[in-house]
Amino acid sequence: MAKYLVEYKPPSWAQHLKNVPTHKVELAMENTPIHEWNLPGIPDGFSLHIKRHDMTGSSLSGNKVGKLEFLLADAILKGCKHVITCGTSPSNHCRALALACRQLGLVPHLFLTMTSEDLGCRGNILLDRLSGADIYMMPPDSDDERDVHPKMESLARRIMSETGEKSCLVPKGGANLIGCFGSMAIFDELYNQGALDRFDDVMVACGSSGTASGICIANYLAGSPLRVHGVLVRHDPEFAHDHVNSTLRQLGVEGVRSEDIFSIIDTYQGEGYSISKQEELDFIVEVSSTTGVLVDPTYTGKAAWGVMQEMKNNPGRFKGRRVLFVHTGGMFGLFDGRMDDMLMQHGAETKKVRMCSKHEAPREAVNGSPTDHDGE
Ligand SMILES: Cc1ncc(COP(=O)(O)O)c(C=O)c1O
Repeated sequence: MAKYLVEYKPPSWAQHLKNVPTHKVELAMENTPIHEWNLPGIPDGFSLHIKRHDMTGSSLSGNKVGKLEFLLADAILKGCKHVITCGTSPSNHCRALALACRQLGLVPHLFLTMTSEDLGCRGNILLDRLSGADIYMMPPDSDDERDVHPKMESLARRIMSETGEKSCLVPKGGANLIGCFGSMAIFDELYNQGALDRFDDVMVACGSSGTASGICIANYLAGSPLRVHGVLVRHDPEFAHDHVNSTLRQLGVEGVRSEDIFSIIDTYQGEGYSISKQEELDFIVEVSSTTGVLVDPTYTGKAAWGVMQEMKNNPGRFKGRRVLFVHTGGMFGLFDGRMDDMLMQHGAETKKVRMCSKHEAPREAVNGSPTDHDGE
């Protein structure tokens, strides 16, 4: 496994930090594209682009991959054969970690806190199962500190006593100091893509705040003029600022607080984490059917909804500014069944889905224009 390690050379603005990793593994596709994004509902006078960080890989995909490049290198450096992590049952982090472990010859173990009674086999769970990860289902009201972490530690001890093999424990979302270097790499990529000249504001979905924290700290250290905003899809501003402040301290960065370098876009968490309102689901369909970009119900769909609402409701904040939304992936969340009924209803109502006979032209013309396709 050591063959996968490559030496990590931090960018110049990160060289003086404490706890800089020495190695990483290479998992992500780099230089994900940036393009204009005509997000539906955005009023005139606003400029929005999107960084397609959903394209960091097909099965790994999104913001988790960069964190895993450092977290799994750390596991290998520590001589671990097993990697134990946790998340909610539809976790993108757990899915990406499980597949990346297999890519590197590591053994993944996932503690999944159930969000419904049955684990099922859709969305990320399908991929978790395909990875062959060992899955430990935890009751829905499990608390990470109290219930999940002790179980992860006792599993590591059991593996050691039964096999003599070491395990590495990775926190939810990969949101620790090592993972933060993967999120700082998103900023580094933006820097190298000329984003500092092309944009004024960067927005990103914010759950555990690990991703936003890496981007805003790197942005500060590099002396960049960009303003970094986290669109909260979970937790509250205090939680997000605490996470950034604690990361600053662990990196040894003095004299600055999260509140000075990180702007929060609040109130678009909706009904709660991973719970979707009908208007959010409708928006997801509108986004994909007008822009071709897939956003998921838990993270990027809510965040994009928040961006659009904020531009409408609080126009002074972004009008005339060049805004870049970082798409953090999560596409497999679209396959968890949540969208199915509404899409089938939508297809029937809009008459977009129709039966065709093999031999006759379709009865309904497409957008009013006659066609001679026979549907095959
Ligand atoms: C697709 C997607 N976007 C955004 C986030 C939020 O990232 P973070 O937890 O680092 O704030 C997550 C976290 O799981 C995610 O899966």
